Amino acid sequence: MCGIAGYVGDDNAISRLYTMLEKLEYRGYDSSGIGYICNGGIACLKQVGEVSCLSPLIMGKSSHCGIAHTRWATHGKPSEVNAHPHLSFDKKWAVVHNGIVENATYLKEKYLGDIVPVSETDTEIISHLLSIFCPDGDISSFISAISCLSGSYAICSVHENMQRLFLTKKHCPLFVAIGRCESAVSSDISCLADRFDRFYELLDGEYAVVESGRVTFYNSHGKIIHKDSQKMCKNTSVVDKCGYIHFMLKEIEEEEDVLERLYSIYDAERLRQELIDIDFDRIDRIMLVGCGTAYHACMYGATMLSWHTHITSTAHIASEFIYSRPDLDDRTLVIAVSQSGETADTISSIELARKKGCATLAITNCTSSPLSRLCHATLDIHCGKEIAVASTKAYNAMLQVMYFLSHYLSKTPYLPLCHEYFDKAIYDDVDKVSMLLKDKRELFILGRNLDYITAMESALKIKEIAYIFASPHPTGELKYGFIALIDSDSVCVVFAFDDALLPKTLLGIEEIMSRGGSVILITCLEIPRNIQDRLMCLISLPVIGTELSPIYSIIFWQKVSYRVSILRGNNPDKPRNLAKSVTVE
Ligand code: AGP
Repeated sequence: MCGIAGYVGDDNAISRLYTMLEKLEYRGYDSSGIGYICNGGIACLKQVGEVSCLSPLIMGKSSHCGIAHTRWATHGKPSEVNAHPHLSFDKKWAVVHNGIVENATYLKEKYLGDIVPVSETDTEIISHLLSIFCPDGDISSFISAISCLSGSYAICSVHENMQRLFLTKKHCPLFVAIGRCESAVSSDISCLADRFDRFYELLDGEYAVVESGRVTFYNSHGKIIHKDSQKMCKNTSVVDKCGYIHFMLKEIEEEEDVLERLYSIYDAERLRQELIDIDFDRIDRIMLVGCGTAYHACMYGATMLSWHTHITSTAHIASEFIYSRPDLDDRTLVIAVSQSGETADTISSIELARKKGCATLAITNCTSSPLSRLCHATLDIHCGKEIAVASTKAYNAMLQVMYFLSHYLSKTPYLPLCHEYFDKAIYDDVDKVSMLLKDKRELFILGRNLDYITAMESALKIKEIAYIFASPHPTGELKYGFIALIDSDSVCVVFAFDDALLPKTLLGIEEIMSRGGSVILITCLEIPRNIQDRLMCLISLPVIGTELSPIYSIIFWQKVSYRVSILRGNNPDKPRNLAKSVTVE
């Protein structure tokens, strides 16, 4: 849930690490820090808040070897003392860590004796263990220290006497790139792409000692292993707002290109090749797992697959799936949907599915992710780097890929891309709706069937970046309970894109309005005049078929959520308490 980086080489490590932290900030931004070798010791610079808060501290500092971290707090509040790097009691080691040490309390009791931890973090124990097990920085003792840990981790550490980085990982990504007179390490390849042509991906249980211009890899027994480097894909380096004020806005504006790209990539032949390792003839049940926005994409996928393949398909929240005793066997396909491919709950679901002999498929934006590595096959959503914490283009892309998958399996043709939804003029009302909502404390968001999925995703979007409490409901559920909450202060946003369900949706709208509630209706359908006249606002969008509608109807709301977030003075790219990749369960 954090970003880690390391540098050793001829350049100034501190400024290089700072630049990497700026690119890693999407992974956590409650505090950051840099540790570096100086005068035969280790110095640390730490600060609470965004990475830019570190900038005054690094002025005039230089070193040729260091480590860095940007944090999303798990153990211990955001504070300078809890920020990484963490030094060992004798200051011989400094450690940055992404993940969770699950047995930190046990290890503290067993090994620390008189040593009093200075922070509330689980990470600090790693630095103390290194000083206890490995005071001189030899790799076999380093491995012994790390083997005490349980949980998940990507670790980058330095020893006071060495211009070297010591690395290892389990379940969290870590990449190394080697140049002529420098080497760098990062949680994300995109931080390395502008300066290096090739990279190595560290795998679970592997260790590395990185020096300037060289790296040595070890297995968990301390034996040197050979690893092949991989060619850097240069477009992974695009972590740039390209003139937009926020990444979120840029990413919404990219949606047409993303869908167009997917249409050009995923013809039946391409899907056949990508899915060659899955024997669909054996599959009699499909379970889709994901978290947050990705779970909403699973809901859409399950509906499409059920409609088109007649294979029973169900959507599951990944953090619940593993504890729900799912009935899994070798005739089950588990599809994990995850933009980052790093979400711990989703990964655990796939680990369980693999244990039970299921076929597994990842639908992800990161084909080098741990999730993709675990699954039998991967469908790339090809939407380019998504930096804003609130997922936008990745959501539309996940839906589009699942639409393709269901049609591929049923051998039915795709409906074409609907370009009308990208005509800027249809979004003229975004400001109007945003002004109506900007001071609201709560909202109801309603839809039936596929529109309910859009309601779920819309509620999540406005909650996470505008901090407005939004409660999504199937429109038909109104009369079974929550209608009790409707009064003249209530605002209900209703999505209606399914012709067949419109009459019932209109009944629900009548029920709300007759209790004094206000309705904002977002639709592509013809609405009777007598209802139009009594709405708080009618948003009429281009006509689109029901099946494709969730891919497009959400765009209006993504724009509204962005706008409301700005009107309320928030930073939509970095909502409070959140991080882009959630690598802890
Ligand atoms: C999206 O707006 C959210 N910030 C969040 O719910 C996200 O979808 C979730 O963390 C899953 O991420 P993933 O797709 O990378 O697995």
